[in-house]
Amino acid sequence: MNTGPSDVLPAAGLYEVVHRRRDVRSQFTGEPVPGDVLARVLAAAHAAPSVGLSQPWDFVLVEDPGTRRAFHDHVRRERDAFAASLTGAEAERFARIKIDGVLESGLSVVVTYDAERGGPAVLGRHAIADTGLYSVCLAIQNLWLAATAEGLGVGWVSFYREPFVRRLLGIPDGVRPVAWLCLGPVTHTETVPDLERHGWRSRLPLETVVHREHW
Ligand SMILES: Cc1cc2nc3c(=O)[nH]c(=O)nc-3n(C[C@H](O)[C@H](O)[C@H](O)COP(=O)(O)O)c2cc1C
Repeated sequence: MNTGPSDVLPAAGLYEVVHRRRDVRSQFTGEPVPGDVLARVLAAAHAAPSVGLSQPWDFVLVEDPGTRRAFHDHVRRERDAFAASLTGAEAERFARIKIDGVLESGLSVVVTYDAERGGPAVLGRHAIADTGLYSVCLAIQNLWLAATAEGLGVGWVSFYREPFVRRLLGIPDGVRPVAWLCLGPVTHTETVPDLERHGWRSRLPLETVVHREHW
């Protein structure tokens, strides 16, 4: 079915979800995600645009506590490695920041990128190989917004080495884990990002990143 201007939906709800979305680490309740809600959230992710309609993503659903514990141990080691690179006030600030909710949320969704999918002639990717990865990130953002609209929290964890996650989950060679996402019901959602609340970094004013006609 084609849609025209008369079918335009109110934008307010979308903007509200966009601004309500947060990266969540501390507020997971540990309750399960109802199956029908998870299906809608994954369908939203799978509705993302992708270069050449390659749909290069897969979603690995991880509930097993042993697997999540093994990943969490790895994340803690990577956290320590990053912490060791910091000094002074920065090191103190980082020490107070929680960087994952892997154990607190009952479900992790690991999103991967398969560069072979839809190949070898992926329409639109010949000049910019990264467009495949961009597509996966759009699926992740769709998932994140849909989960927010459903009242769930999402936390993106990137303190990991790809070979470790590939081994842990049996991801085939050539397929890259792009995001380890913690997903689940939350007690509440903060209005200010955690990193801002901890004085790590603030959102830049919009006008500093908008350029007109030239950079
Ligand atoms: C690619 C990517 C990787 C991220 N990795 C982590 C992470 O490992 N740990 C963490 O606590 N937050 C992680 N985040 C969340 C960001 O810190 C967060 O998005 C940012 O501080 C803004 O906060 P907000 O998402 O609540 O608006 C990641 C976000 C992105 C987009």
